Amino acid sequence: MGTMLATGSDVVSFLEQQHQDIKNLFERVRNASGEERTREFQALRRLLAVHETAEEEIVHPVARRVLADGEAIIDKRLSEENEAKKALAELESLDIDSNEFNLKFRKLNEDVLAHAESEEREEFARLSDALDQSKLERMRKAAALAEKFAPTRPHPGIESPVANILAGPFAAMVDRMRDALGKKA
Ligand SMILES: [Fe+2]
Ligand SMILES: [Fe+2]
Repeated sequence: MGTMLATGSDVVSFLEQQHQDIKNLFERVRNASGEERTREFQALRRLLAVHETAEEEIVHPVARRVLADGEAIIDKRLSEENEAKKALAELESLDIDSNEFNLKFRKLNEDVLAHAESEEREEFARLSDALDQSKLERMRKAAALAEKFAPTRPHPGIESPVANILAGPFAAMVDRMRDALGKKA
């Protein structure tokens, strides 16, 4: 692991690409202000909801079963993910251009990147070794479904649960994502 070029066809390269996209969105929020910052923050919340739901529904349960110390590793990752959800709920209640937002956002940024690094090192790399290619590809397809449920630009005029997935606070977004994914995956 680590020497293979990311083709995007397996779940590990797919999620690692999302980690990179999340990192870029954190930077875009930090470099923006006002309405632009609100838009970038919404894009970040969307991607975090898509990404963490795919991990929690599809990847962590497998890692828990197949990795030697899977239980302990996944418990740690889940508690980090819950911390991030709490931090996002706090950020949602703050003025987006305030000093308090900046401080808390910087902390979340650091925590989420550390979380992603732990996943790549302790979980994804080892899953790549433990699972065969066809399983990794099937998991990628299931993870990619989460993206479909949360289109970046919903089609106008379509009134469906899909269009509502991204409404409201982050915790509610995640609940609806999980519902949608649970029915299809
Ligand atoms: Fe995660
Ligand atoms: Fe992740």
